[in-house]
Amino acid sequence: MKLLIIGGTGKTGRKLIEQGLAQGHEITAIVRKPKKLKIDAPNLRIVKGDVLIPESIESSFQGQDAVLSALGHKRFFIKTTILSRGTVNIISAMNKNHLKRFICITSLGINDSRFKLGLYYTLFTIPVILFFYFLDKSKQEKLIMRSGLDWTIVRPGQLTNGKLRTSYRHGMKIGHYLLTKMISRASVAHFMLKNLESNIYLHKAVGITN
Ligand SMILES: NC(=O)c1ccc[n+]([C@@H]2O[C@H](COP(=O)([O-])OP(=O)(O)OC[C@H]3O[C@@H](n4cnc5c(N)ncnc54)[C@H](OP(=O)(O)O)[C@@H]3O)[C@@H](O)[C@H]2O)c1
Repeated sequence: MKLLIIGGTGKTGRKLIEQGLAQGHEITAIVRKPKKLKIDAPNLRIVKGDVLIPESIESSFQGQDAVLSALGHKRFFIKTTILSRGTVNIISAMNKNHLKRFICITSLGINDSRFKLGLYYTLFTIPVILFFYFLDKSKQEKLIMRSGLDWTIVRPGQLTNGKLRTSYRHGMKIGHYLLTKMISRASVAHFMLKNLESNIYLHKAVGITN
């Protein structure tokens, strides 16, 4: 397939690119800093772009089969709209280019998965550190759900840099109110790519943990 990947210089996005190339997909990666990517492959096209600047990303959507987003950032303590504004621009670029399939990472703990990232996150990390980030992620999910696209939202537990395991738990009841469940970024990437071949989670926000 022809895949457009957003967030490819990030820790999960990089796994998406590596695994996508290994599976034989043709990949276009939209990144802010091309030099940071350091992956060179015949099936990889790297485009400099910023999701907050629509003109810098729109033309790369042309002719793609699906869009995968691992967009994220570390501006935790301040009010931010990067994820929601970026997602508005992604949805708009998809519509302009008649693309339908969109798979996007958010997180357990958002919207109807509230409290499912474990007690420590519920009582401390989310209200104290991630409050604005999660508010923006919640908006991001709602925008995707109302987009009219063929979307799947992937909600991981706490991410690790552990190795790829192709056996993991996924579904609508994933997560734990007490314990923080983990999942490697490599496994999240694997699950996202697997969803390209399946409609099981079409129009669903699905949790994933070990
Ligand atoms: N950490 C956890 O435990 C956890 C748990 C659940 C879900 N998540 C979510 O999972 C997602 C992926 O996490 P991660 O750790 O892989 O993220 P990450 O390493 O921080 O990568 C984020 C990516 O988004 C890109 N990006 C940020 N702003 C952009 C913009 N304006 N235009 C284009 N690209 C932009 C970054 O580009 P640059 O390289 O240029 O900065 C980077 O490639 C995030 O949404 C995160 O919140 C994390």
